[in-house]
Amino acid sequence: MNDVNRIRAADDDAIAQAAQLIRDGRLVAFPTETVYGLGADATNDRACAAIFSAKGRPQFNPLIVHVTDTGAAAEHVTFSAAAKLLAERFWPGPLTLVLPRRADCRLSLLVSAGLDTAAVRSPAHPVARALLVAARTPIAAPSANRSGSVSPTPAEHVSTSLGNAVDLILDGGACSIGIESTVLDLSGAQPTMLRPGAVTHTELEKALGQSVARSDIAATGQTGLASPGLIARHYAPNRPLRLLAIAPQPGEAFLAFGPGTDSGPGILNLSPRGDLAEAAANLFRMLRALDQAPYRRIAVMPIPKTGLGEAINDRLKRAATPA
Ligand code: TXA
Ligand code: MG
Repeated sequence: MNDVNRIRAADDDAIAQAAQLIRDGRLVAFPTETVYGLGADATNDRACAAIFSAKGRPQFNPLIVHVTDTGAAAEHVTFSAAAKLLAERFWPGPLTLVLPRRADCRLSLLVSAGLDTAAVRSPAHPVARALLVAARTPIAAPSANRSGSVSPTPAEHVSTSLGNAVDLILDGGACSIGIESTVLDLSGAQPTMLRPGAVTHTELEKALGQSVARSDIAATGQTGLASPGLIARHYAPNRPLRLLAIAPQPGEAFLAFGPGTDSGPGILNLSPRGDLAEAAANLFRMLRALDQAPYRRIAVMPIPKTGLGEAINDRLKRAATPA
């Protein structure tokens, strides 16, 4: 199959084919409301191992397990009262919960990368949901890009990034949110946000009626223990980024935010009206679009740190960390 044949519009027939591939232990990329995922049967060790090799991802990085609903997740992980409450409030949707594995958990140990917890999420995207129902198994899926590069939000970016490493790409159009799910660890004494994402810190605290800690990303990256996925450099385009830029310098492409800067050659605006949800949806696509010759660097305007801005600034900071 060449790359073009590998992408199929996500109709019923394609979803049935994808579900069969998943059951056969193969890899399928599929759309979620956040970003495209690179999916495999989460109960199949060899299939999960194939995800790591397709992504070129370090083995210590655990995977998110996608499920239809709380009932399906509860077969594998233990739900505390707080976990139940958050699942009721935010599922299906862009929140991932890190919970203790049950003694009879059938999820591959690879998805937990040696930890006694597993990260679970019930996605809202209709194609992801149809695939989960048809496959009748939880699906482990990191973002469908090579490790360390920008997460894919249209299907074409999956094939550019992973090429032949994936057996089928279900095309469900552009992802509506465009930034990954929030990862919340509920396995310890205090709820801890391991990765800022589409559900904000404020929303979590409000729903829980309790304070939510943030893990120290730099420290976590070094120890690689509590949250191995949070290595400092991640989501990176090939060109270096210059953050907090007011205007482009010679040789720089420019990623703007807010009123006053129109798109033009080498200039894209994440959201001319200053809307953070719109900026999140555009972020990875625009970073890719500006990551081109003749530009040597991408200058990025300051983005407010409130609400979804926390997740956007987190991704930009990682993308800007030198390799
Ligand atoms: O929006 C998303 O979450 C997308 C879509 C496809 O669902 N998936 C995604 O997966 O972003 P990935 O593998 O790129 O990011 C998973 C994050 C990493 O930061 C990883 O370390 C963390 O979740 N994670 C997974 N399991 C964990 C665990 N047991 N303990 C701590 N962190 C965990
Ligand atoms: Mg990722």
